[in-house]
Order: sequence, then structure tokens, then C-alpha cells
Amino acid sequence: MAPLPNSAAARDVAYYIHPQTNLRKHEQDGPVVISRGEGVYIYDDAGERYIETVAGLWCASLGFSASERIARVAYDQMRKLGYYHTYRHRAHEANIDLAEKLIQLAPVPMSKALFQCSGSEANDTAIKLAWYYQAAMGRPGKNKIIGRQGGYHGNTVASVSVSGKPDMHADFGLPLPMMRHTEFPHYYRKHEDGESEEAFATRMAEALDKLIEDEGPDTVAAFFAEPVMGAGGVIIPPKTYFEKIQAVLRKHDVLLVADEVICGFGRTGNWWGSQTFGLKPDMLTCAKALSAAYQPISAVLINEKMHQAMLAQSDKLGGFAHGYTYAGHPVTTAVALEVLKIYEEMDITARARRLGKRMIDGLNRFGGHPLVGEVNGVGMIAAIELVKDKAARANYEPTGRAGSVVDRIGRKNGLVLRVIGDRMGFAPPMIITEAEIDDMLARVGRTLDESHKELAG
Ligand SMILES: Cc1ncc(COP(=O)(O)O)c(C=O)c1O
Repeated sequence: MAPLPNSAAARDVAYYIHPQTNLRKHEQDGPVVISRGEGVYIYDDAGERYIETVAGLWCASLGFSASERIARVAYDQMRKLGYYHTYRHRAHEANIDLAEKLIQLAPVPMSKALFQCSGSEANDTAIKLAWYYQAAMGRPGKNKIIGRQGGYHGNTVASVSVSGKPDMHADFGLPLPMMRHTEFPHYYRKHEDGESEEAFATRMAEALDKLIEDEGPDTVAAFFAEPVMGAGGVIIPPKTYFEKIQAVLRKHDVLLVADEVICGFGRTGNWWGSQTFGLKPDMLTCAKALSAAYQPISAVLINEKMHQAMLAQSDKLGGFAHGYTYAGHPVTTAVALEVLKIYEEMDITARARRLGKRMIDGLNRFGGHPLVGEVNGVGMIAAIELVKDKAARANYEPTGRAGSVVDRIGRKNGLVLRVIGDRMGFAPPMIITEAEIDDMLARVGRTLDESHKELAG
């Protein structure tokens, strides 16, 4: 339905371009205007309440209205020092404290932190640092970056190029020529008859090995991976996957970058997805839950090997010629620091495991539903794959149809869902309670029943 004249929705259509949106449909139908948030709920401008099943964009881990405590930290920091930069040896306390805290929390020994404003910028920075490192080692031609089909690392020119998302490359002239993509490691979708998870993981590692051999190991700088792929459909790595992948990277002297933008800060049941799945990255990128999404901030953590190379480059070139105006913005770092304190107080990893189990057990109970092919999850992140034929693992045609039906019916049932093709992703705010999980599950059940009736009928 077209928005009413002069409404907020009509002005939105008149003046704003929405990211990741069908622009023609938006002109016709207008936006859903979200007016306020409270805990795990958001409210639209008609006063309808929805459970946000994926914390916005996998990020609002403390819910949609900041506490007095966090708001006070932001207010005080704005009054004390509302902006300063960190170029040319300038520093401020919140920045220093947050860098120190992140190095203490890191899953493997890390040496230094760099700050930016988004996950995309963090991954762009990590890509540049991979090139910088290889140049420092005297091999500037070792510059290809490998991501994975279905992987998502952001939308800036370089980060979207590492992402294995052809729809985000089309007609933008991307990916950049030095980017490569290896296999999508989704066991449920991609395994062959009779192939175990371990054997599938071996095949995935062999494919990576072959790609590097074919390209020439002297031309491959780094490999990027999310511990759990988020925007690719919440893909949990098959057993032994990262162990085997890392052996290949070591063999060819290729850097590992762990993209913890979704997985960081408790989502998988540990502080980092790298801990849950045994990754030992040279660089780690994080954002989103770093500030519970209340402020735009991201970080890259680098190990000492990277740092030494950067020192050498700085000596050679006269400085480290990279940075952003808002890198380490004091309000963002102060808020992030307070958020990390809150995570520690609430024992966020234990909470993710305890409440995540309740959520995943509940989702597993839909395993017998005629519309459900796969249920998978870890910590407080999970997915359901919607199928037409369970035995054949076949989706409804065309791809994404079942997903869009579920999305629409979910909204009617008070759920904001994250549907990726025919997969439903779940990553609710980490403050969700037992009762709210049960309520969400009941609504999901109703949504599956009603969607199946429409699709099958
Ligand atoms: C794993 C991962 N990396 C990077 C990004 C990009 O982050 P941003 O949108 O803050 O640039 C995202 C965003 O969803 C993500 O899921």
C-alpha cells in the first residue's frame, strides 16, 4: 500500500535511499517506520510490537533502548571531550582503555588494536594491512585475498570484494581483481551422499589448497573467514573444518583474518567465535556488539608479527599512512568500554550458552515440521532451512519464495525475522529472557504452520 501523503513514510520515499532494499518496491510500498525500542522489542509507528529475532543486524546485544548507565557514559564523554582524533600521536583515555581491554580479551595473543566505525572499515583495514605486511616481507606480489562463497565481510569496495556475494558485486565493477573465493562450507546443502562432516571438511580444505596451488602460493596474502557465517545463512562450520583449513594456510604462509563482526562478544557461547571453533588468527576484526550497536565502532586486532612488519614499514615510509577522522572517537570508545563491563557483569558467555540452549532446543523441536529441512545453531545464533521436500533437501521454487512467505507471516505474528533466501536466522539480543525465548518460539511455530499451509495449499 502506498504511504499516505505527507506522512513520515511518504517523506522517506521522497528523500531517502535505503541500503539493501528493492528500490522500486520501496517507492510503491514505503517503509516500515520503527519508532522506538524496549528490550528485545521494537515498535512501529502504528504502535505494533515485534520481537527482534536477530538483534537488528546481529548487533543490538543489549536491546533497543540504552540503559541510563550507558546513556550517562555517552553524555559525560560528550561533555568532557566530545571529539578528538588519534592522528599524529594524539591520544585520549577512553581509546587507550578500550584498546587495552580488547588486547586482554583477545582469543590468541594479540599486540595492538586499531579502531574504525564499521565492520566494513575494519575488514578494509585488515585487507590493507595484509598487503602492507606482505610488502614489508619483501613480497608485494603476494596480494590475493581469499574469501568464501556466501561469506560476508562488508560493503566497502574491498570488503565486499572479499565477500562471496555475487548480488553485491553485480554492476558495481566488483570484485576487485585480486580477490578469490573458495567453497561454501555448508554441510547440509553441499555434502555428497554418505559423506561425513569430517570428510566434507577435508574436501573443503583440499579445495582451498588447490585454489592456492593454482593461483601460486607466492600470490596469496590472506584468507578471511567468519567463524560462523552470518549473512550467508548462519552456517556453522562442519566438524574439523577450521583445523584443516588452518593447516593449508600454514603450509602456504597465508595470513588468517577472523571476521568476528557477528561472532564476537559472546554470540557463539565464548567471547569469540575463534575460541568456539579453534581459530588462531593473525588479525581479528570486530564491530556490532562491541558497543551493543549503540555507537558505530569497530576494531582490528593484530598480532606482534603484523606489528613488527608495520614498524618496519613506518620506518621505511616515514609513518603509517592510514586512518579515519573518527577512528577511536571518544564517545564510541567510552560506550564500548562500558558495554564490555556490562557483558562481564552479566557473564555474557554463560548466558549465551544457557539461553542459547533453550532457543536451539526449542528450534530443534520444529525439526519434524514439514517445512523444516535443517536446524542448526551454536551459543545464541541459529538457523532453520525451509524446504518443500525434506528427503531431497529441495526448496520451494523460486528460491526465496518460502522465505518471503515466512517473513510476511512472521511480521503478522509479531516477529521481525531475518530471512536469507530460504533460511531463517536467529540471533536475538543477548538480554532476551527465558519467557521471551518461549514466546518467540511459539510465534515461530505459528508462523511455520501458517506458512506451510499457504505454500502447500
Ligand atoms: C561478518 C560481518 N562482517 C562485516 C560486516 C560489515 O559490517 P558493517 O555493516 O558494520 O560495515 C558484517 C555486517 O553484517 C558482517 O556480518
